[in-house]
Amino acid sequence: MSARLNLLSPEVRANPYPFFAELRRTAPVSQVEPAGMWAVSRYAEALTVLKNPQLFFSAGMAALMTPPWLGRGNPSVNSILFMDPPQHGRLRALVSRAFNASALNRLEPRIRDFATSLVKALPADGGVDFVSAFALPLPASVIGELLGLDPSLHSRFKRWSNDLVSVSAVPPEDVAMQTRVRQSLDEMEHHMKEVLEDRRRQPREDMVSDLLRAQVEGERLTEEELVGFLVLLLSGGLETTMHLLAQAARVFIEEPGVLARLRAEPSRIPAFIEEVLRYEPPIHLTIRQTTQEVELGGARLPKGALVAVLLGSVNHDEAQFPQGDRFDMDQPGTQNLSFGHGIHFCLGAQLARLEARLGLEALLARFGSVERGEAPEEWSPSMMVRGLSSLPVRLREGD
Ligand code: HEM
Repeated sequence: MSARLNLLSPEVRANPYPFFAELRRTAPVSQVEPAGMWAVSRYAEALTVLKNPQLFFSAGMAALMTPPWLGRGNPSVNSILFMDPPQHGRLRALVSRAFNASALNRLEPRIRDFATSLVKALPADGGVDFVSAFALPLPASVIGELLGLDPSLHSRFKRWSNDLVSVSAVPPEDVAMQTRVRQSLDEMEHHMKEVLEDRRRQPREDMVSDLLRAQVEGERLTEEELVGFLVLLLSGGLETTMHLLAQAARVFIEEPGVLARLRAEPSRIPAFIEEVLRYEPPIHLTIRQTTQEVELGGARLPKGALVAVLLGSVNHDEAQFPQGDRFDMDQPGTQNLSFGHGIHFCLGAQLARLEARLGLEALLARFGSVERGEAPEEWSPSMMVRGLSSLPVRLREGD
């Protein structure tokens, strides 16, 4: 490949997979644009990066999330996602306590209720945007319930979360978008501070109150860490799960046999979800920075190099998944890296899988087919997240 691949170019955004395949074949660890990052496109090297936080640290991602035009801090960079050992371990221990199995068990009946009532409200034989009618409100309701947020704010969650994950992809000349992103961050931060203040005065049975109570070896989360974590949960929990559900519906459109099979065998839904996650991972890349000069996949990376682990590429690596570019829910599953790996492995993975399973069970109990709607689908502008921001569909009830 002569010129450097630009991950933000329209051709790559439209369909990155042929470009990723070429990288894996010819230059598995090589520099790309933006920012001259080193793209890691194969599974083996991706594991090396994610397993070695002492060589590839996460704090480097913060600079990309705080571009100069922002003119303010980005609260999400005070969260565990951007931290390295030993600070990461201390904070992860604090927040994991509020994020345990019993919290999930408490949520399960609520998630089922949300899914059932959203499915009931979908039009039979009518056109609808699957994202705004189902894929967004389900995780928005769940995250709202988890954090005890005011349901009237749900419609703002999408803008907040979408703007947050778009920070690193806003063009320098797009002043209107910059203003919008800044406003979303202000609103999100302000709202989370109010929620914290409210729970301090009146603790409840919700995660925010659990986080305020959480303490490990005499340490508590600071106000900045609390706001950072809540902002991360809102965007990490919403945008990603929304894209997973929307991609599932897109598979139903493109491979109608899959939907019929899942209706006949609902026990296959978890395997289907894993394959959707592998095939179109909602988080398409994650970033690290080298702490010293490192040799990786035949390339020599200088100290301080930004390293983009292309999850969308490593999940299609033929060395790991023989039919990598094909959707096949019977593909023998060597683990996909859609929830990351190592110390930053997604804290919400079980919650996301649960939401997706309950959501799809409710959907398939009523509908026998999903067809493409009239309007074109739209994709998120983010570089780190790949997913549909709208998916017009026509749903038909099943027998
Ligand atoms: C971390 C993906 C849903 C909370 C991560 C990472 C990935 C990921 C790839 C690791 C990033 C890295 O190593 O740099 C996903 C996907 C989801 C999903 C694909 C849905 C399909 C959720 C949900 C929540 C959540 C529902 C919570 C409500 C988190 C947190 C971290 C994280 C807190 C940071 C963990 C740490 O740094 O130790 N997620 N996520 N995620 N995710 Fe998720």
